Amino acid sequence: MNLRSHQWFGESGRNGFIHRSWMKAQGFSDDVFDGRPVIGICNTWSELTPCNAHLRRLAESVKRGVWQAGGFPVEFPVMSLGETILRPTAMLFRNLLSMDVEESLRGNPVDGAVLLTGCDKTTPGSLMGAASVDLPTLVVTGGPMLNGKFRGCDIGSGTAVWQFTQDVNAGRMSETEFAAAESGMSRSNGHCMTMGTASTMACMTEALGLQLPGSAAIPAVDSRRYGIAQRAGQRIVGMVEEDLRISRVATGESFTNAIRTNAALGGSTNAVIHLLAIAARIGVPLELDDFDRFTRDVPWLVDLQPSGRHLMEDFYYAGGLPAVLHELLPLLHGDALTVTGKTLEENVRGAERIGDVIRPLAEPLGIGAGTAVLHGNLAPDGAVIKQSAASEHLLRHRGRALVFDSIEAYDAAVDDPDLDVDADTVLVLQNAGPRGYPGMPEVGNLTIPRKLAEQGVDDVVRISDARMSGTAYGTVVLHVCPEAAVGGPLALVRTGDWVELDVTARILRLDLPEDELARRRAQWQAPQAPQAPQDRGWTRLYGDHVLQADRGCDLDFLVGGSGSAVGRQSH
Ligand code: FES
Ligand code: MG
Repeated sequence: MNLRSHQWFGESGRNGFIHRSWMKAQGFSDDVFDGRPVIGICNTWSELTPCNAHLRRLAESVKRGVWQAGGFPVEFPVMSLGETILRPTAMLFRNLLSMDVEESLRGNPVDGAVLLTGCDKTTPGSLMGAASVDLPTLVVTGGPMLNGKFRGCDIGSGTAVWQFTQDVNAGRMSETEFAAAESGMSRSNGHCMTMGTASTMACMTEALGLQLPGSAAIPAVDSRRYGIAQRAGQRIVGMVEEDLRISRVATGESFTNAIRTNAALGGSTNAVIHLLAIAARIGVPLELDDFDRFTRDVPWLVDLQPSGRHLMEDFYYAGGLPAVLHELLPLLHGDALTVTGKTLEENVRGAERIGDVIRPLAEPLGIGAGTAVLHGNLAPDGAVIKQSAASEHLLRHRGRALVFDSIEAYDAAVDDPDLDVDADTVLVLQNAGPRGYPGMPEVGNLTIPRKLAEQGVDDVVRISDARMSGTAYGTVVLHVCPEAAVGGPLALVRTGDWVELDVTARILRLDLPEDELARRRAQWQAPQAPQAPQDRGWTRLYGDHVLQADRGCDLDFLVGGSGSAVGRQSH
């Protein structure tokens, strides 16, 4: 085998001495430098990313497998992104994580990589970086938390927070109960256990063929997660021997499989942005409209919150993703190659569906209920809406806009008893896109104004250039492109304008004559720089180079890859 690690550890003379000697300081014996595959375990562990807090323990299981198969495991940390903690939004730093992963893999004696991820952005960020290096790579996600519990009921990560906030506003829940629910929701290691972005991206890596079959749904604290992590450690050594790189696994057909699977899951809208970005790193042609084209006929099979009723623990016991892929096979490219060295179809042969959390193909919860891509004069480059999480009666709607130019302005108004809203109002939020916020935060699922909540209105049409949490729900139009802060038509909407949403026809329109739009466009001034220190550092680089949501919000100069060629000597 012609391994790249050999150019470090296989060297004679001064440089070989340097490369081996300092590694031996950790207590490794001579024979780990005998030319065996070196496996980088790229860890997004952090106590500030609670969803990934157990990943160091998981890394030990991966290492066990690597040793077992004759490899040499080396664990290293990369930037971690805690969705619930990091401001202004973890999404601002996804591409920075990807750069960390990319350079760490390329600059070190690594022949294959295991990516330990979990919380929302850590999976796509790590995978984007690894894709630009294109070594044999396996993803091991940390798994979901156990189901949340409150007063004898299951409560879902995120989803319950949105629901309870509304209940408190409507007077259906007390502040004391609200506080008590806090401890019951997140009661074990793991990432959100709804079909939010973390669970979705875990399933996406499995559907792409980049994670061992059956991995995505195993709860973080289930011993079987540690078992499969050990198997992943064993398998990555074989993948190095077979030179089974990301680009051989994640092909156009695999992306089609992933997109279709997401529709069957009722998965997160964030997957749209992340899959576009990952595909562009690999060089797989993928466009926003493909997400609509590939999913119109896909049945929604998985009854998980926020679209449905159950949680990830139930999903695992019901058969997990292999059972879904097995049902979906007639709609998938079953011959797509995966990290097992076998095809998707071979991997899921015999996978069983247990109970009714996962529906059979012939009895879906709906058809084409996935993420629809909208166009029109309000979103010339597209916008998305998750149909399975929206209200049926609002999918075709015409209403007057109530416009806010920042989330702070909205939050200041949301409790106002005199707010000029009714059930037909269309709430519009501007300047929450990639450039505008910056970082495109998850604020698109605007809380229902208290005045409406008290009247029992639990959903209105909401439109923005923001994202929303994968755990959120409602008739929420997101990712409007181009965003307001770069002068997209969303910036031109004013309170009182008529807005038309027709999800069946895939239309998002502002009912204004073109000359009025042109007049407003001529008057438009870019908003003042928001609070973030945008004039230097990462935020500046991001602001200068970030692509719009329809292109995955990557930085323009990070699209594509640079491969795994070994760099020049350091001494
Ligand atoms: Fe980390 Fe939801 S907050 S996965
Ligand atoms: Mg999130």
